[in-house]
Amino acid sequence: MPRLVYCLGLFSLCCVAVLYYAGVDTVNTLSPQGCRMSWMSPSYVLQPNFDRSWSPLAGRYSLWLYREVGWESNELHGSPVLFIPGNAGSSQQVRSIASSATRQFYSSPYQIAEGFRTRNIKPLDFFAVEFNEDLSAFHGSTLDAQRQYTARAIDYILSLYPPDTSIMVMGHSMGGIVATSLLPHENISAIITMSTPHTLPPARFDRRIDHIYSKTLKVLSNDPTPILSMCGGATDLMVPSESCILPSHDHLFDPPYRRTVFTSALEGSWTGVGHREIVWCHQVRWRVARAALELSAAQTPYERSMILDTWLRDGHIPLPFGDRTNHSIALRDEDFSVLPADLHLSLKSPSGVHTYVLPTPSSPSSGAAKFVLYVLQGTIANTSPHNPLPLRASVYSCTPQEHCTTLKPTLLKLIPAPIPGRPFPVPNEGSDESEGVVLFEADVAVFSGSHVAVRVEADGRGWVAGGFVGVGGALNEANAIAPFVEYLSANVTPNALRQTVKYPNALSDALVVYRLVPTFIGQCSGLLNPLVQHTSHPSETHYYPLSSSSPILLHTHGAAPFISSPYNHGLNLTIYTSGEGGCVLKDLEITVDWWTTIGRWGVRYAAPTATWAVAIIAVVLFDAWGTLESSGMMPDVAASLSVFVTTRLGWLLPLSFAISFLPFPVDVWLGNEGEPVLAPLAPLMLLTATGLVCASWWLVTLLELPLTRIHRLFGFCSTPRPVTPPEAAAVPLIRRHPSEDLDTDDDPPSPPIIQAPQSLCQVHKHQHLLLLMTWLLPLAAPVLAVWVRTLYTAGLTTPFDGDHNVLRMWGGLC
Ligand SMILES: *[C@@H]1O[C@H](CO)[C@@H](O)[C@H](O)[C@H]1NC(C)=O
Ligand SMILES: *[C@@H]1O[C@H](CO)[C@@H](O)[C@H](O)[C@H]1NC(C)=O
Ligand SMILES: *[C@@H]1O[C@H](CO)[C@@H](O)[C@H](O)[C@H]1NC(C)=O
Repeated sequence: MPRLVYCLGLFSLCCVAVLYYAGVDTVNTLSPQGCRMSWMSPSYVLQPNFDRSWSPLAGRYSLWLYREVGWESNELHGSPVLFIPGNAGSSQQVRSIASSATRQFYSSPYQIAEGFRTRNIKPLDFFAVEFNEDLSAFHGSTLDAQRQYTARAIDYILSLYPPDTSIMVMGHSMGGIVATSLLPHENISAIITMSTPHTLPPARFDRRIDHIYSKTLKVLSNDPTPILSMCGGATDLMVPSESCILPSHDHLFDPPYRRTVFTSALEGSWTGVGHREIVWCHQVRWRVARAALELSAAQTPYERSMILDTWLRDGHIPLPFGDRTNHSIALRDEDFSVLPADLHLSLKSPSGVHTYVLPTPSSPSSGAAKFVLYVLQGTIANTSPHNPLPLRASVYSCTPQEHCTTLKPTLLKLIPAPIPGRPFPVPNEGSDESEGVVLFEADVAVFSGSHVAVRVEADGRGWVAGGFVGVGGALNEANAIAPFVEYLSANVTPNALRQTVKYPNALSDALVVYRLVPTFIGQCSGLLNPLVQHTSHPSETHYYPLSSSSPILLHTHGAAPFISSPYNHGLNLTIYTSGEGGCVLKDLEITVDWWTTIGRWGVRYAAPTATWAVAIIAVVLFDAWGTLESSGMMPDVAASLSVFVTTRLGWLLPLSFAISFLPFPVDVWLGNEGEPVLAPLAPLMLLTATGLVCASWWLVTLLELPLTRIHRLFGFCSTPRPVTPPEAAAVPLIRRHPSEDLDTDDDPPSPPIIQAPQSLCQVHKHQHLLLLMTWLLPLAAPVLAVWVRTLYTAGLTTPFDGDHNVLRMWGGLC
């Protein structure tokens, strides 16, 4: 092999190593995890009555009921919930959520908690299907078997309850696909999925999985069952979170409830969560359990969607701000003080009841201003942390006649308040139920003499800060390539309580990570230190403390390879701060963070690269056969590869680059619909794939070596033919090619040597095929693994339909 081929092989191996290490690194840098462990006293009650009379799969799978030991009786006493584990998952993964539901419903063993006793809420009976850690992600038939079994399990569970009982279904990972594939189903009240790849199967080895997916997605577009999808974000390396986003549908009237909630935005959680961790992460599990408890009392899909939006809130959906809060006060009846114009409200440890009046700014030309209020751990209207302090703020808009009515917010949600000097989120701990700052934003009509009044009731704990902000924001319209080569700065307003910073042309894609570099003057030690909110998709938000020492890495799951998204350009940042606190934000710059950017590529392009490698082998094979046809001699694999590298690769590289600009559909080529900035990925992928083919050939040769030795040692072959592949004399063969006149010292071929090329030819043919088969192995191997596993766990009794059933093949032959 020429040196070029060796270089290419080594280059690819280095690429793979770099992609791997960069990819592993992103788990801790992009979206770190801060989750409290959950504790429980689990027990599992087998449901032996759900037997073969219900489902022929009852021998292979089983159904269990979860019970918290010592807290409740084993009798069924509530509303049924079914948990479906994912690929290689276990029914016991139900324990964290189920235990939380029990311990929220009962304040102590057998004692119903105060909040539930008076309401029509029943405890939950958590059932879980056990699939014996089946590999459902790799095998359509297995997924289908799980679906059939689960459908029957639901029939069985409902048969234990009064008629017209409905069941809630939860699915983890591929279990979520099983859950949604059960639709349409009139007895499923709602579905919550966790880290489920809804739009793209994680492993596309099996056409039947694609089939199940497309069927399910079609049903999802108009089935009325509410579905909520929880996604862990970049921390989840197994299922890229972009496929976890439920597709939205343009329904003019009454769209079905399809909500995607990222744990990084989930109020009170604000952390990335790994693939397995999402079922036990305390901040997530208690909210899921609570939502399930509340759902048991709901009757209509609308009520159910309201409950899901209340308990699994990410601040993207405004809560209804009803008439209940539309009350008015007269300022003269209040204990009030008027703040000087253009001064911010900033109350540390307020106490008592007092009203603060802020005159609207006189300057804005637009006739409108934005009012922002922050309340630490308190309450504004109906929004507060789960365990708030007795601190309440109400915001009114007042006429010059001192008559005030409730100001209706445009945004009312909870944002995190990271503690300076500590990582955010705090590792192994995360946020507490009492943490968070309530953020209130409203548009105020500005006219002479109008003001905004803030009524604060407090007991000396917490703080309140607020004031008017301008409506515009910083804008940097540099093109999409600019952040790849330089730092893009933004024209920030120092000390604005709230400001937006937009880079409308920057690429927003799962493959690109930006580093945000702020420049401060002074040390930040205020009430609310600058906090950046990055909203990359209508359901994805991340928060970063701006003054922290760790780098701020902006990433997204909105647009990604092979997933079409309208949000593939534009970086929208919002900076929140209480404005005092001694630090002044001077500048904000973004640039591409190369290491983490590269870390995002491996997971997303591994399978396409393997596909390209197979295509390369096909071309190599084609060329080799061509040589055979024209010259009667088959070059060996090494020679074929070097021919490919020296002749074909030279023009395939620029061609692949050019093709990347074409606006193909989203599921072909690079999967980005011809995004110019990402075009260099194609030649890079082609180089890597070629190098991997070369490297794989070295590996195959290496593996062949001992076999050849044994072969020779025992002389299995009696003919004088055994030609060892590594010594395969390819070069002379090529030189015999009539059209090549390199061969100047050719001696006339003698008959014995002519025999050798014939056998050599066979060896070379086989070697080419061996290489192709090696690369096709990943297509068949997972299915084989599933098959062996199923034989092992369920025995031969198991019906195992599909084209890899060896027994069926025998049956067909006989
Ligand atoms: C499912 O729901 C339908 C309609 O509400 C009801 O008639 C049927 O009995 C339910 N099935 C079970 C098993 O409860
Ligand atoms: C709220 O009160 C104001 C002033 O009394 C009134 O004009 C407005 O219609 C009320 N809004 C609702 C939704 O009732
Ligand atoms: C970012 O802001 C622009 C302009 O305001 C808007 O059109 C776009 O939809 C926003 N992007 C996201 C993901 O919200």
